[in-house]
Amino acid sequence: MSVTIAFDVYGTLIDTHGLVAALQELIGRKATNFSQTWREKQLEYSFRRGLMQNYEPFAVCTSNALDYTCMFYEVDLTKKQKEILLSSYRSLPVFNDVEDGLRRLKANNYRLFSFSNGTADDIENLLVAAGIRDYFQGVISVDDLKSFKPSPAVYSHFLRESGAKGGEAWLISSNPFDVIGAISAGMNAAWVKRSKNSIFDPWGIEPTLTVENLGELHGKIG
Ligand code: 2OP
Repeated sequence: MSVTIAFDVYGTLIDTHGLVAALQELIGRKATNFSQTWREKQLEYSFRRGLMQNYEPFAVCTSNALDYTCMFYEVDLTKKQKEILLSSYRSLPVFNDVEDGLRRLKANNYRLFSFSNGTADDIENLLVAAGIRDYFQGVISVDDLKSFKPSPAVYSHFLRESGAKGGEAWLISSNPFDVIGAISAGMNAAWVKRSKNSIFDPWGIEPTLTVENLGELHGKIG
């Protein structure tokens, strides 16, 4: 059977900092730090909701994190401005290397799935807007389990839904917590380190493979 690949979405296929230019218009020089804090809080809220077993869709974590970030940076956005930002979050851009990497993998018969904290509807819309939906056999979401990465249950859910076995399946992610979660749950995992400054958590669990862009994956996994 050909190799099954789970692509993380936010931060791996889709650039979660794609709204920095729009933020600059609204809040000026604070935009880059604002975007960073927004993303970190979004993930923290998903981790906490997972631990608390108090699930709300990932978009709620994103919205709550936006409110927190406005308070943190003392930025006074109107309800309308927040709505526009959250709506733009549904059509964030892809990273430059994504389309080429996906094309090569698909041409070589890898079985490609997206696998995300986002709901299936949100991810369908995001991938369609980015023009990359057709590369994937399916969109698999943690929402089915009402939990979040890196619960081991969500990686098992991916394996069940995709019909793959742990040792044959790969997670591809730029998020170190996701890579560690997948390996800890018995999958292979590649870390996409696009920036020299990215740091992998020093937990003693190393990525099965590290690449600088998705174009390097073909031929290295399998
Ligand atoms: C995703 O699941 C972790 O945000 C990341 O798409």
